[in-house]
Amino acid sequence: MMNVIFVKDYDEMSEKAAEEISKVLTSKKDAILGLATGSTPVGMYEKLAEKYKKGELDFSQVKSVNLDEYVGLPEDHDQSYRYFMNYNLFDKVNIDKKNTHVPNGNAPDMEKEAKDYENLIDSLGGADIQVLGIGGNGHVGFNEPDDELNLFTSVVKLREETIKDNSRFFKSIHDVPKHAISMGMASILKSKKILLLASGKNKAKVIGELLNKNCVTTKNPSTFVRLHSDVTIIIDEEAAKHVKR
Ligand code: PGA
Repeated sequence: MMNVIFVKDYDEMSEKAAEEISKVLTSKKDAILGLATGSTPVGMYEKLAEKYKKGELDFSQVKSVNLDEYVGLPEDHDQSYRYFMNYNLFDKVNIDKKNTHVPNGNAPDMEKEAKDYENLIDSLGGADIQVLGIGGNGHVGFNEPDDELNLFTSVVKLREETIKDNSRFFKSIHDVPKHAISMGMASILKSKKILLLASGKNKAKVIGELLNKNCVTTKNPSTFVRLHSDVTIIIDEEAAKHVKR
C-alpha cells in the first residue's frame, strides 16, 4: 500500500513523521529503526526527542541502522553522519549507543565494511521502518541516478550535483567527500515499512516523477520505493507542487 500524506509545511511533515515512528515504537519496544540524515529529518528527530522527554517514548531496547556515511571523514567531524545522529537524536534519548549502527567510513577495508554492514542488516532481520529523505536528483541514501543502481551496501562515488547540494554544510565545496558508503536499493527495500519525507521546492520535480508515473527508473532512484508494499510518503506543499491530484 502507498499512503501519501500531504501536509502544509516542514513543521507538519516533521510532526506526522514523528507520529509514524512513534506508532512503530509503541507497538514494538525493541524495534529496528532505519534512519537517515540530511536537513529533512532534523525536525522529526526534534519531535521524537520531545516525545521522549515527555515520557511518551522509550528507546532503551531500540536498535538502529543508518543508510549511509561519507568515506574518509573522521567520526567526530561535525558533518559525519555518526556525529549528526549523536547530535540530533542519540544523545537526546535513552538509546544505547551500542545498538546504533552507522556504516564506518574509515574502515581499513571499505569493501569488507560494506559486506559486513549488509550482513548486520540481515542479522537484525531488516529495519521495521526505514526513514528516507530524497535528493534534489532523486537519490535515496547515496544511490545516485545512473544506468545501474546497487542492490546492496556499497562504496559509491557522489555525483557533482550531490556534492554541490551538500557543500552548504561544508566550509568549501572542496571539503565535501567524493565517496560514501550507502545501503543499496535492495537493502532499503528489506525494511518492513518505508517512510519517505520531502519538503521544499527543490524536491518538487523528483516527487512529481515518483508519484505521477506508473514506472520505476534508475534515473530517479526514489521511484524504486514503489516496489515496496508498505510505503508512507509525507510531502509538504512546495514539494507536492507537481503532483497530479
Ligand atoms: P536533505 O537531503 O534532507 O538535506 O535535503 C536529502 C538527501 O539528500 O537524501
